[in-house]
Amino acid sequence: MSMRLDVLLTPGELAPGDIADRTVVVLDVLRASTSVVEALAAGARAVYPVASIEEALRLANTLGRDEVLLAGERKALRIEGFDLGNSPSEFTRGKVKGKVVVMSTTNGTGALNAAAGAERVLVGAWANFSALVRELADSRAEPVLLCAGRDRHFALEDAVCAGQMAEAVMKALPDDSWEMNDGALAAMALAREFPDPAALFSQTAAGRQIVEAALAADLKLCARRDRHRIVPVLQDRQLTLAARNGTA
Ligand code: MLT
Repeated sequence: MSMRLDVLLTPGELAPGDIADRTVVVLDVLRASTSVVEALAAGARAVYPVASIEEALRLANTLGRDEVLLAGERKALRIEGFDLGNSPSEFTRGKVKGKVVVMSTTNGTGALNAAAGAERVLVGAWANFSALVRELADSRAEPVLLCAGRDRHFALEDAVCAGQMAEAVMKALPDDSWEMNDGALAAMALAREFPDPAALFSQTAAGRQIVEAALAADLKLCARRDRHRIVPVLQDRQLTLAARNGTA
């Protein structure tokens, strides 16, 4: 069967009309998509991705401040007055279990909202790599892998993760013939050039910013593959666990 897979290397390539019948996977491996995976794996009831700090505060008040943890960053650092920053290691069971997380980050949460018109929106990172690939293969999705990028520009680590996922999805469905856009071809070439995310992070702009913010330990965690067998899915503005989670 003929299948289609596209990689959008920046959110600017997203055209709402193109994704209405597609499964979009949002990738912001440093660090928002990794943090979302960690939060849900640690038992958060839901994560609401919101674009602005004001919207996060408004939503927290509407949902009930006691139920909510405010999380997010600007310039890699925790937003003033928020409970958590955007380090994946902050989303521990002790802190997030049973809570609703309202999250605002510089790029990742904006990309998630931009993708909201898709048939399905999933979150991918190295942390849930194999579960995500399996979900795409089992559902025979024709995915659009959306790289959140950095300040609307290309971010190498998102493209490399997208390239690895594209390869893995095609390998999981070897009897199908795949049509791809140029972004997917480029991402797969980059994935072959940079096979080790930990080594890659130390070279990229986002990785360097995190090191400069004295958060270098985050890079190790974001590079670890398959920490969790879960797939976050966006529905009614909130990210929760996809139905197949737990059996992946
Ligand atoms: C983002 O959404 O821009 C990021 O996840 C930035 C970060 O916290 O490293």
